[in-house]
Amino acid sequence: MNITEFEQAVLAQKPVESEHYDPEYFTGDWRAEGNNYSLEKRREIEAKNPSLIKEVFQPRRVLDLGCGPGALMHLLWELGVDVEGVDFAESSRALATPEVRDRITVGDVGDPAIKPAGAYDLVVCREVLEHLTVFQVKRAVVNMVRLTSRFIYVTTRFHPSPASLLDFTTQFDVDPSHITLLNKDMLRLMFVLEGCRSRPDLEARMDWGHKGRVLVLEKIAGR
Ligand SMILES: C[S@@+](CC[C@H](N)C(=O)[O-])C[C@H]1O[C@@H](n2cnc3c(N)ncnc32)[C@H](O)[C@@H]1O
Repeated sequence: MNITEFEQAVLAQKPVESEHYDPEYFTGDWRAEGNNYSLEKRREIEAKNPSLIKEVFQPRRVLDLGCGPGALMHLLWELGVDVEGVDFAESSRALATPEVRDRITVGDVGDPAIKPAGAYDLVVCREVLEHLTVFQVKRAVVNMVRLTSRFIYVTTRFHPSPASLLDFTTQFDVDPSHITLLNKDMLRLMFVLEGCRSRPDLEARMDWGHKGRVLVLEKIAGR
């Protein structure tokens, strides 16, 4: 994709509305291998992720941006981690456990007024960016860097075989709302330009499944 093609593709994208993420989205049978958002299924899928997050980042306050029904929040809460979440889907709060429901704020990942700047030493954003337009990804990146005082931990789906930095694609066979699979270097570049450095050491620890879908960034003080 050259810059002209990139520009046209970005301008043609339409955001996915919050209503798309209804209870059927999170709990329906359309999900491969019963991969739904019940707490018990998520406990199985997350495996050592919650304890690894605690061990690797040793966070004091965590924000889960695009938290969905809050299963990761619940699992972190069980470990004594102070965690809050943001998601624009009302169903997220409705499906969340009573233990974390009131810790979820309904709002947009790109909203600069959603929470105070630097209020969290770890911002988590997992399996969300592929659901956003490129413009929305840019705003979410800016917001994550604003919200964190130190670490950002992202997982997302990337373009499997990009021919250029600008290439991005869709993945409708897996999820009809997977509208933006970026080149991994492009997403990293967005964070670097906002004043972050890569932490390949922490990335390797968090990517224990070797799926290549993890980014860990550290905000550079004073940038
Ligand atoms: C695939 S789910 C991931 C949920 C959770 N982070 C996880 O890893 O299980 C994607 C989530 O992103 C949320 N989302 C998508 N676009 C958003 C936006 N612009 N602002 C806030 N949340 C958004 C959806 O409501 C949904 O809960």
